[in-house]
Amino acid sequence: MTARTAIGIDIGGTGIKGAVVDLGTGALLSDRRKVPTPAGGRPADILDATVRMLEGLREEFGALPVGVCFPAVVKGGHTLSAANISEEWIGLPAESLFEERLQVPIHFVNDADAAGHAEVRFGAAKDREGVVLLTTLGTGIGTALLYNGVLVPNTELGHLELDGHDAESRAAYSAKERDDLSWADWAERLQRYYSHLELLFSPDLFIVGGGVSKNHADFLPLLDLKTPIIPAVHRNNAGILGAADLAAAGLSAGRHTAQSL
Ligand code: BGC
Repeated sequence: MTARTAIGIDIGGTGIKGAVVDLGTGALLSDRRKVPTPAGGRPADILDATVRMLEGLREEFGALPVGVCFPAVVKGGHTLSAANISEEWIGLPAESLFEERLQVPIHFVNDADAAGHAEVRFGAAKDREGVVLLTTLGTGIGTALLYNGVLVPNTELGHLELDGHDAESRAAYSAKERDDLSWADWAERLQRYYSHLELLFSPDLFIVGGGVSKNHADFLPLLDLKTPIIPAVHRNNAGILGAADLAAAGLSAGRHTAQSL
């Protein structure tokens, strides 16, 4: 039987967040815990911070399936890229490293893919047919490409080259903060980015996640696109929810590796 409750941990370029999730409703059963991602984002430091977060949750809620999502290409449990974390992650058997340190089997997945899964299960992509492209606007840009609710993993469309730049370096929320942009100035960059995605994928729906999606009224209406564009229902919690749900589903089927996504 699929577990009804699981722990989701979302490792980001800026913060590590975790919570216990009710998998029937997608509601958080604990407060959302957050610690800053250690400077440099090196493996040993991120592993230590994740262990501390999990210990806190387990002290209160006991042993539950654990899902961890991560800001990198994840294949066969290995991290194959590193944009906003240390390059030492590239090529590491990260899933096994987390399992050794956390002393539990985990489900390990890309953070945007986890968010996409969560929005299909509990949010804005539920029952949506066709091509849905979820983007998370945060330290970087994460993407989840869904077709009739099925995820194509590791799309990494935040790294499209656009006007000679890595797209996320101009259009992520961190670029708005770094360059002190007004909503209107940032929206111009988003316009360029989403128009390009539209050209490439002719999506039926864009979903915008990440912490800044709570301010969607400040920038989504400024965009002029053919495709409807809406905020993620679960905003910045989607990664936690998706990782938790995949962990419960994977473990019930006796699987807990990235391939089971
Ligand atoms: C990473 C992606 C990640 C995204 C959001 C990008 O820089 O390459 O793997 O999904 O940031 O965290």
